Amino acid sequence: MKQKTIYCCQECGSQSPRWVGRCPSCEAWNSMVEEMPVKSAGAVLRGKTEPVRQPVLLTEVLLYAENRIPTGIKEMDRVLGGGIVPGSLILLGGEPGIGKSTLLLQVAFLIGKDNREVIYVCGEESMQQVRLRAERLNSISENVLLLAENNVDRVELQIKERKPFLVIIDSVQTIYKESLSSSPGSVGQVRECASQLMRLAKMMDTAIFLVGHVTKDGAIAGPKVLEHMVDAVLYFEGERHQSFRLLRGVKNRFGSTNEIGIFNMAGNGLIEATNPSSLFMQHWQVPVPGSVIVPTIEGTRPLLVEIQALVCPTGFGLPRRMATGVDYNRVALIIAVLERRLGYQLSKYDIYVNAVGGVKIEEPAVDLSIALAIASSFHDRPLGLGLAVAGEIGLTGEVRPVASIEKRLSEAGELGFKKTIVPEANINPAIDCKSKAVGVKTVTEAVQVAL
Ligand code: TYD
Ligand code: MG
Repeated sequence: MKQKTIYCCQECGSQSPRWVGRCPSCEAWNSMVEEMPVKSAGAVLRGKTEPVRQPVLLTEVLLYAENRIPTGIKEMDRVLGGGIVPGSLILLGGEPGIGKSTLLLQVAFLIGKDNREVIYVCGEESMQQVRLRAERLNSISENVLLLAENNVDRVELQIKERKPFLVIIDSVQTIYKESLSSSPGSVGQVRECASQLMRLAKMMDTAIFLVGHVTKDGAIAGPKVLEHMVDAVLYFEGERHQSFRLLRGVKNRFGSTNEIGIFNMAGNGLIEATNPSSLFMQHWQVPVPGSVIVPTIEGTRPLLVEIQALVCPTGFGLPRRMATGVDYNRVALIIAVLERRLGYQLSKYDIYVNAVGGVKIEEPAVDLSIALAIASSFHDRPLGLGLAVAGEIGLTGEVRPVASIEKRLSEAGELGFKKTIVPEANINPAIDCKSKAVGVKTVTEAVQVAL
């Protein structure tokens, strides 16, 4: 028998038996999503389907040692927080064609090689295609099973029967629940399927990876609505025409977030990057005006990135400002500080700022490198060779301390940067790294030291 479904407004929560384009109660457009009706709490209690639960003292809750299973791909394990936790539901999002299926097929192979069973649900590609890819990746394992199935209930049956260690659903946008009439990939379907798989993962102690396609602005309905319900969210990023890929942990109930893993997409699959810092620098052996190296911290790992700026006279009209890979608003703020504190007349210049290699840097420690890159391009004078820069800039032009200075200095030193300009407040004689720290208090001072 087909179960009745309801449509629920995502803005105000009002319900309707049919789909309507505009919510009758809050008048939001296109906000109705198909859902399974939930039994009211009262009905559940009356029906005595579940025993009444008593509160338990926090100190008396039993602890289990989580046994993480490393995938064998170091960059992936770092982002997962050490390995796959049995019974966890992990969302892997990314643009189509970025390499999600490739990565997970490699994971499946390594887990399979470790004598654990993996079911790979291929909803997008045919079994032949997956087999061909596995051949190309040289990843054929006896313990990996392919399942060409889109119906989530039948996937559940298979999981209950075979009890695999790991299940990969490629992708969550292709599976559906029969009792919902909306099409696969719609918000209602994606959410319902994911919550069913969540319950299943916990019940069977099976880890499940959900692949979710996201568009450039992250707008596609699917994966975003899942972020709050899954245990971990990983995003796979990169420029399509470049070969390196970043795996970024956005949420992790079993580990730290903001970790990144770095890979290179080669002819035979994804290879872990051995010296990631070299990917994000072009001009570190030849000094060029407008180029500054910043040791940033991504999660717990230091990464050297080259920041480039170009300052050139405005042709006509308003000056242009552009920021790629760094926050536009920070750039605007830094330009204002340079104008005010150093007396630069930047209103007649276009300014472009770019983080090399397509990385996105969110931390404020990049501020000082943006300022120096702009100053260096403005004066058309390069920074000294072997100089790196880190520091946050405040509105009065002061340079504020940054976190993890020791890691930054040692990574910079490791890659041959003899000197690093850092905030004065970070100077600590106890820190002894290969890169010598030069403390500055203000942007003005930093410009004097660097240029
Ligand atoms: P894929 O894993 O299919 O992407 P997604 O699942 O995220 O949509 O990866 C597709 C791209 O990766 C494709 O354009 C070809 C490239 N690729 C390689 O460069 N080397 C390889 O070994 C493989 C398998 C794919
Ligand atoms: Mg794919």
